[in-house]
Amino acid sequence: LEPVPVVVAIDGPSGSGKSSVSKAVATRLGYGYVDTGAMYRALAWYCLDLGLGLTDQAAVAQAARDLPLELGTDPSAPTVVVGGTDVSAAIRTTEISSRVSAVATNLDVRAELVRRQRELIAAVAASQGGVVAEGRDLTTVVVPDATVRLLVTASEEARLARRSTELHGTADAASVAATRDQIVRRDKDDSAVSQFLTAAPGVTVVDTSDLDFAGSVQAVLDEVNAVPTTR
Ligand code: DC
Repeated sequence: LEPVPVVVAIDGPSGSGKSSVSKAVATRLGYGYVDTGAMYRALAWYCLDLGLGLTDQAAVAQAARDLPLELGTDPSAPTVVVGGTDVSAAIRTTEISSRVSAVATNLDVRAELVRRQRELIAAVAASQGGVVAEGRDLTTVVVPDATVRLLVTASEEARLARRSTELHGTADAASVAATRDQIVRRDKDDSAVSQFLTAAPGVTVVDTSDLDFAGSVQAVLDEVNAVPTTR
């Protein structure tokens, strides 16, 4: 029996625990990691750095084709470098978070970034034996033929509590209320791009609402381990 390269495709909304779970699963399996959201964020950063208006569709599409991006695929240090500058932290600011959907809804941008994502996912899977790739449209558009296709979700309540703890260090009523608007708006912006709140046919839902971090990682590992990876 020959091992075949494994592609684990994970979609889901922000606050579902998708990113931290994806990195932990990749680490446990010795696979590479591809954060496709980081690519959209890197493009938004690059456009702002160039002084481009994010709503200038043609200019932003050209910037996507020019984007000098090096995306780190080590799950323990997924660095993002644009034109030699490490932007790993700069792409996580609330400014980028609140403006990135303007570039992610540009269809020419999506065509270019999806092309790069497919190339990177195939290369990492081949060189490391497997890859965990996460985003919003991995299971449906980028790699619909992935070995394992998962939608990692959590109830709105659970997502709010997690995001509130992330942003404010607490999930008390006031912090949750402050977070709610932001989450609701981002879901709305993001769903203009792809429907990631319900699973496409053949995609398995992993609901993490009642799971802690270790339980969420195990639930994803169980799905991966259920699929034969030799031929
Ligand atoms: O997952 P994230 O918050 O880092 O994603 C950043 C933005 O990119 C967000 O607006 C959703 C969008 N995105 C997308 O449209 N398609 C993907 N595959 C990944 C992210």
